[in-house]
Amino acid sequence: MKILVTGAAGFIASHVAQRLLQRGDEVVGLDNFAPNYSRVRKEANLKEVAAHERFTFIEADIRDAQAMRDLFGAQKFDRVMHLAAMGNVRYSVEHAQEYTAVNIGGTVNLLEAARLSGTRYFVFASTSSVYGNAPIPFVETESVAQPLAPYPATKIACEVMAHTYHVAFGLKCTGLRFFNVYGPRGRPDMMPYEFTRKILAGETLRIFDEGRPQRDWTFIDDNVNGVIAAIDAGFAYEIINLGRGQPIALSRFIEIIEHLVGRTAIIEHAPLPPTEPLITYANIEKAELLLDYHPKISIDEGLAKFYEWYQHAIQ
Ligand SMILES: NC(=O)c1ccc[n+]([C@@H]2O[C@H](COP(=O)([O-])OP(=O)(O)OC[C@H]3O[C@@H](n4cnc5c(N)ncnc54)[C@H](O)[C@@H]3O)[C@@H](O)[C@H]2O)c1
Repeated sequence: MKILVTGAAGFIASHVAQRLLQRGDEVVGLDNFAPNYSRVRKEANLKEVAAHERFTFIEADIRDAQAMRDLFGAQKFDRVMHLAAMGNVRYSVEHAQEYTAVNIGGTVNLLEAARLSGTRYFVFASTSSVYGNAPIPFVETESVAQPLAPYPATKIACEVMAHTYHVAFGLKCTGLRFFNVYGPRGRPDMMPYEFTRKILAGETLRIFDEGRPQRDWTFIDDNVNGVIAAIDAGFAYEIINLGRGQPIALSRFIEIIEHLVGRTAIIEHAPLPPTEPLITYANIEKAELLLDYHPKISIDEGLAKFYEWYQHAIQ
């Protein structure tokens, strides 16, 4: 299959592109090297796939509607795997307009280009944070009308917009709600990377609510298994959780990193901001049933793999 992977220089998409190439697909990667972290890091992510003969890369911005239409006019894609986005909850709080333009505007540009070109199937990344403070474990049938920050609000908009493209134009769409994905090439603004760097540098960690918040950390290889299965499935319209189903308290998460790096964290306590949930916890029964998705990597094993990578990564 020929698959467009947006956000290809980013953490998750670079792994997805790599797996698709390994199994024989043709991949067109697209990214604009957004400045959420360094271009050097993103180029290093791309290096894993750039030399592959079935990979081509396009530097473009999904906010450019004409460029997206031209791309889909020039090339025929069997599938779109849309992973490009602004993805940091805390940063989104004061940057709602940028998040709206990239996450909603960019997604609509891609949906529009896809339907005009006759592309049949569109898979996209959503997030566990659409659930806000909903009852746990989070199940896909839960109402998601009360997000806590602009980032999840934009992802809810993508889910409902994709639904309208499915109804109006018959475009098949699947939205995957990712839960705290981590592993090699992980984003520098996410906890595994940020905490490891700060503990090693002797910098202070700001810990919310005495370390009580829990997150359902999902190792990248498990996440990619679910993503690939969704790309292959070709559902009419589905929203599916891709988590691990085993939330970990922040205090335990820090202990594991302290143990790996062999140093004790310097901690400063702070209240949990109202824009962040106390817990994320995926019910993964739908993914098990529809995608044969069975996450295997424990948090201890996954953070060890992350740290192995971190020690050799460009900082
Ligand atoms: N990492 C997680 O835990 C997590 C959790 C939930 C959802 N997600 C979603 O998964 C997807 C991938 O996230 P990630 O963690 O790999 O983030 P990432 O920042 O590493 O990757 C996203 C990529 O999108 C690119 N991008 C941003 N704006 C763009 C634009 N206007 N045009 C073209 N490209 C653009 C960036 O340059 C970046 O390389 C995102 O949609 C994110 O919202 C991630």
